[in-house]
Amino acid sequence: MDREAIQQRFGIVGQSAAIRNVIDRARMVARTDITVLLQGESGVGKELIAHAIHGMSPRRHGPFVIVNCGAIPEGLLESELFGAEKGAYTGAVERRKGYFEEADGGTIFLDEIGEMPLAAQVRLLRVLETGEFTRVGSSRPIKTDVRIIAATNKDLAKAVRAGHFREDLYYRISTVIIEIPPLRERREDIIPLFEYFLHRAAQRYGTPLRRLDESARQLLLRYHWPGNVRELRNVAEQVAVLLTKNTITAEDLRPLLRGVSAGRSLMPVSRASEHGGDPRERELIYRLLLELRSICTRSRRCCIGWSPARCGDLSSSRRRPRNRPFAPRLPGRRPRMWTSWKTFPSKRNWTSSRLKRTITGSRSRRRCEKRQPINTSKRRPSSHRLPAC
Ligand SMILES: Nc1ncnc2c1ncn2[C@@H]1O[C@H](COP(=O)(O)OP(=O)(O)O)[C@@H](O)[C@H]1O
Ligand SMILES: [Mg+2]
Repeated sequence: MDREAIQQRFGIVGQSAAIRNVIDRARMVARTDITVLLQGESGVGKELIAHAIHGMSPRRHGPFVIVNCGAIPEGLLESELFGAEKGAYTGAVERRKGYFEEADGGTIFLDEIGEMPLAAQVRLLRVLETGEFTRVGSSRPIKTDVRIIAATNKDLAKAVRAGHFREDLYYRISTVIIEIPPLRERREDIIPLFEYFLHRAAQRYGTPLRRLDESARQLLLRYHWPGNVRELRNVAEQVAVLLTKNTITAEDLRPLLRGVSAGRSLMPVSRASEHGGDPRERELIYRLLLELRSICTRSRRCCIGWSPARCGDLSSSRRRPRNRPFAPRLPGRRPRMWTSWKTFPSKRNWTSSRLKRTITGSRSRRRCEKRQPINTSKRRPSSHRLPAC
């Protein structure tokens, strides 16, 4: 595939020497399984290039799993990446697959890898060296076939010197480094990118296509773009939606250009701890969300007719005889056996309403377990019900 075809296919705009060089390197590494490190400020297009590498690689039909290492609390990152056995930590009510297991046969994109805690770095190094990992709480190695693309907006070499990033891991992940320069260093891409996003926004929101006059173009070219392409896209969308004039001048644009930092420093990554938030509180909330997700899954399984044993803690421990399938009784329907979603016509409404009841009340839960129809006229007042999850 030549450069133009790649740009067309993955929506990469730009004709600067820098972006052409990035695309050429991406194309060369795509056909191999080599680990790639994408470096650049926030919003320069690291994720877009990672997508392109995966899309051009022989693994393109496999999964592309994105993990933002900076967004997952430190205490949970290992179990999120490598999975956890039931009971490995408080709240691990069932065995969980990690991202590495989910990405098997495909690519895993480790965004903001510089934020990864040291303990997880050790495990990651092992995956890179041996292609094996162990779930948290287990010692059984699991083989995985995953290509790793990492990205950072930090100077990783500096993080190594400061002792925040392992040196051996740094050399292992930086086999090939693709540096994506900030927008202010490839100014010839600014106007084509702006017009591309204007056009896209006009199509998406059904607004007329605006035109930039010379003063507006000059202002865009002079602006520092601390948020890079992401900021430029947002400005273009605002122009398409909020401005009513057909020809946009510098005066119309000026209020929209309000970059948070005019300096040459990298865009700071907002972290809860820097804003006074307690990291333990953050982790607790994250754990609760995971637990809630797992409760929802189990109660859904329970409601759609999985046997109590397969539903987990919410249902009774009563076991269904091995050879007798679980057959839910529906309101106004004769009992029937069904094995898949397709055989169950009103599955969605029935599932969500029963799911709510299962979470809200023990009476409903008992009914659900006994597989009895629920009388919809005897609903609880809405204040007693949880929002749909
Ligand atoms: N060269 C480009 N052409 C088109 N869109 C781009 C380009 N670079 C970045 N973008 C867009 O800018 C936004 C931010 O890019 P992203 O890849 O998420 O940046 P990063 O991961 O470096 O923070 C995305 O919507 C992406 O599609
Ligand atoms: Mg990103």
